[in-house]
Amino acid sequence: MIVCKSAAELEKMHRAGMVVHDVLAELRGMVRPGMTTRDLDAVAEKMTSERGAKPAFKGYMGYPATLCTSINSEVVHGIPSSKRRISEGDIVSLDFGAECGGYFADAAVTVAVGAVAPERERLLRITRESLDRAIEKVWSGNRLGDVSAAVQQWAEQGGFSVVREFVGHGIGTKMHEEPQLPNYGEPGRGPKLREGMVLAIEPMVNAGRPDVRVLEDHWTAVTVDGSDSAHFEHTVAVTKNGPWVLTRPRDAAGPCW
Ligand code: MF3
Ligand code: CO
Repeated sequence: MIVCKSAAELEKMHRAGMVVHDVLAELRGMVRPGMTTRDLDAVAEKMTSERGAKPAFKGYMGYPATLCTSINSEVVHGIPSSKRRISEGDIVSLDFGAECGGYFADAAVTVAVGAVAPERERLLRITRESLDRAIEKVWSGNRLGDVSAAVQQWAEQGGFSVVREFVGHGIGTKMHEEPQLPNYGEPGRGPKLREGMVLAIEPMVNAGRPDVRVLEDHWTAVTVDGSDSAHFEHTVAVTKNGPWVLTRPRDAAGPCW
């Protein structure tokens, strides 16, 4: 069952969403060569508690940190570590969720560190644009497959591939609710979107083959072929006026990240 949220509930989710937005905006502005991914995790944890919110990932299925930090060929779920240093030219995915007043929000952004290879820049741009295009499909009466297909079509026309093993998801009083939202699919298929539904849309796009594997730490997903991967995410509500991106300020304009 897909749970629809009331206007009051969406306001609460937006409060959680603004914590997520502000933390990711801060982190994205502070990523520098020489920092460790643990440094970023510490800032996220401190900001979250200062805002009276709780990290959504820490403790989830035993996950040990506040953030997921996934570099270059790491796709998602990289565990922050004081031994992992960020270098000039890296692309770093920062994924963060928060719970505030019983409601969850979840978002991710991939950051270019200093000057990065043009093909890496293009991977980031296409992945971010695939999320923009998916968000535009979040209208009552459209179907879930319209959202999935928007991601897949834009990523693949850019010459990239979408990851099959991980999906976006419904979100609300739990981090993961129905439905699952693959980054591939066919327009016109799947459940109809209705006012009050909330989706965490999260394209994971590889520069090479779509296949991924999980490392011995049981979390970090990497591309099998070693190619780069990018990840962007927002929590988006269906309203009668179209998509409401709950992980952004209300009047934000322009590209989603
Ligand atoms: N954005 C990811 C998701 O929606 C992050 C989950 S990481 C975990 O699944 F550690 F919490 F599992
Ligand atoms: Co998510």
